[in-house]
Amino acid sequence: MQYAAFGKEQGVSLSRIALGTWAMGGGSDWGPVEDEQSVRAVHAALDQGINWIDTAPIYGLGHSEEVLGRALQGRRQHVFLATKCGLVRFTKGINHWLKPDSIRRELEDSLRRLQTDYIDLYQIHWPDPATPLADTLEELTRLKQSGKIRFIGVCNFPPDLLKQACDMADISCVQGPYSLLDKEKSRQILPFIQPQNRAFAAYGSLGGGILSGKYKKEANIRRADARSYFYRFYKGENFIHTSGVVARICRLAKRDGVPPAQVALGWVLHMPGVTGVLAGARSEAQVCQNAQAVLWCPQPGDLDFLEANTCSPLK
Ligand SMILES: NC(=O)c1ccc[n+]([C@@H]2O[C@H](COP(=O)([O-])OP(=O)(O)OC[C@H]3O[C@@H](n4cnc5c(N)ncnc54)[C@H](OP(=O)(O)O)[C@@H]3O)[C@@H](O)[C@H]2O)c1
Repeated sequence: MQYAAFGKEQGVSLSRIALGTWAMGGGSDWGPVEDEQSVRAVHAALDQGINWIDTAPIYGLGHSEEVLGRALQGRRQHVFLATKCGLVRFTKGINHWLKPDSIRRELEDSLRRLQTDYIDLYQIHWPDPATPLADTLEELTRLKQSGKIRFIGVCNFPPDLLKQACDMADISCVQGPYSLLDKEKSRQILPFIQPQNRAFAAYGSLGGGILSGKYKKEANIRRADARSYFYRFYKGENFIHTSGVVARICRLAKRDGVPPAQVALGWVLHMPGVTGVLAGARSEAQVCQNAQAVLWCPQPGDLDFLEANTCSPLK
């Protein structure tokens, strides 16, 4: 494994491949999961030298955190544990909700499910336009002072809101989508983050799995599945675009004798300003394959070749 400094924070060294655990939540987002397999995948990650694990209360409505809490029994101290707040389920679906009292409640629930008394990185999952940002960040700052969280992060913040947040609180880490299929949003914020030496965590770097090259034809995916509404690369014209990107990944992977997933993740690892890639996985085999992405060494021209825009754009 390779390790990187956690942005401007002293004394924290993080694996460049982190483990993403959205799929371990199962439920409607990713279909059935086997918890024992998830636990084995977490242990495999630790054995591979991965020390950064990302989860959220909304992943399987608490299930991802519960399984992770079980898996980390006796090994909690070896992990930089990141979870989130601000996506809350009410009777009418999932809401962006960052009121201070809700954050306090969410944090207590996460601590209980994760069987820990502190969170290393506590992140706003999505902005909430209905709550003043200052109120949210003041609450997170109070929680940091209390020791229940060590660092504050934000995800999915557009550039203007991110700048406001950084003026109001000590934001250590920013999380955003970054893959060969979805890079523009993060490229808008990285020029701001980088000079300030804040950490950046990339998510969705496998496009939900499709950049591993395993989908040879359009996938028949349920409407509630994350790969239908969040990663929209699996059908119609978008699938044709994606197939062009996958073909380039597979060409380099074949040349280098590595699985395509390693090239897809390796490309993101080589992008300026990226501290680490949250690679989602469900099994030990996927974890082990993804961890090796740090070893992929692009030849001159490879990085540009991978993102050469020869197909019609995504819709
Ligand atoms: N802050 C946010 O808003 C946000 C949003 C999205 C994600 N995230 C975080 O980022 C993490 C990563 O993103 P993600 O999990 O959504 O998507 P991803 O990393 O692009 O894809 C993960 C999925 O790809 C498949 N896969 C993984 N490794 C593979 C391999 N080597 N070969 C073949 N298939 C493989 C697995 O699904 P199958 O086995 O089902 O194919 C896995 O669940 C999440 O788990 C979460 O922690 C954060």
